[in-house]
Amino acid sequence: EKGSYDHYMLKEIHEQPVALRQTLHGRIDGDDVALEEFPPGSFDDVDRVQFVACGTSYHAALYGEWLLSKDGVDATTYIASEYAASPAPVDEDTLVVGVTQSGETADTLEALESARERGARTLALTNVIGSTAARTCDDALFIRAGPEIGVAATKTFSSQVATLVLLAERLVRDITGSPTSDHADRLDALASLPEHVESITTDSRAADISQRCLGDNGHFFIGRGNAFPVALEGALKFKEITYGHAEGFAAGELKHGPLALVTPETPVIAIGTGHDEARLKSNVTESRTRGAPVIAIAPRTASDLADVAEEFLPVPATHPDLVAILANVQLQLIAYHAANAMERSIDKPRNLAKSVTVE
Ligand code: M6R
Repeated sequence: EKGSYDHYMLKEIHEQPVALRQTLHGRIDGDDVALEEFPPGSFDDVDRVQFVACGTSYHAALYGEWLLSKDGVDATTYIASEYAASPAPVDEDTLVVGVTQSGETADTLEALESARERGARTLALTNVIGSTAARTCDDALFIRAGPEIGVAATKTFSSQVATLVLLAERLVRDITGSPTSDHADRLDALASLPEHVESITTDSRAADISQRCLGDNGHFFIGRGNAFPVALEGALKFKEITYGHAEGFAAGELKHGPLALVTPETPVIAIGTGHDEARLKSNVTESRTRGAPVIAIAPRTASDLADVAEEFLPVPATHPDLVAILANVQLQLIAYHAANAMERSIDKPRNLAKSVTVE
């Protein structure tokens, strides 16, 4: 039931602190992770990881790839429908992780099937116990976000990424023999993620700011590092529920083409992680010079971005590897409030279904 909320999407955005507490419950043990089915050594034989996923889950998978790559694990993310048609090479030491909220997405199931047939080990990272992906993969890891009704995935993205942080810790330790760099600080920050998200869902200026994003020619979302998949996700959420044109870019790509589209009629939403902010700052300046309204989302401490952007939406300061999860919550709220102002069919956007069971 929606209770006092106008839409399931808004309810599910607000459920994220609870969902994340469920996701993390019992899975952080001091400076290590405790993943029930995956004790230390579970992935000793793995030498590379391939993610297959669609849509929002694909963006979560890209975040997972970023986490693994920075700590020396060979990881690549594939759009499941592309992988199914032209699969990457695998062997028995390849772990293919299907990231799928429903566990029923046909393209993802087909990609997993192709990997399994060719001898890879498969793992379903899913929200649904008993789903086809959970039943047919060698292993399953549940994100425990609770049921999601809105077609637009919100709380499941946050829980997918939080689960990927946990899985990355296990994989990096098993594959490289060492914990992730900064593991104690990062796991501490992960434990605080629910309260950090709560501080955004209870107090955000996103509703006001979203009014700057109504009916423009285009909306560009830019970020670097782990903020890049979140830029893609922010654009997907925005386009699917507002029907406004939106695109996500790696911020460094702006000057390799998209900058030609930047005008006073194209809001640019820049996502900073508080890490290596100088380059993003120059991308913001490039966009301002073309007259674009720029909204920056970054930790409160990233005052540099606040200085150059027209609007600044802060998120709590936390470990830089996790900031983009918080920024994404602000992006969910911007998309929601813009769509609501335009009276869109938020929980059931036109032409879309919650679970895409055809290829
Ligand atoms: O159930 P899945 O995670 O496999 O679904 C994949 C996509 O269809 C899904 O993430 C879709 O992009 C979102 N509902 C969009 O908000």
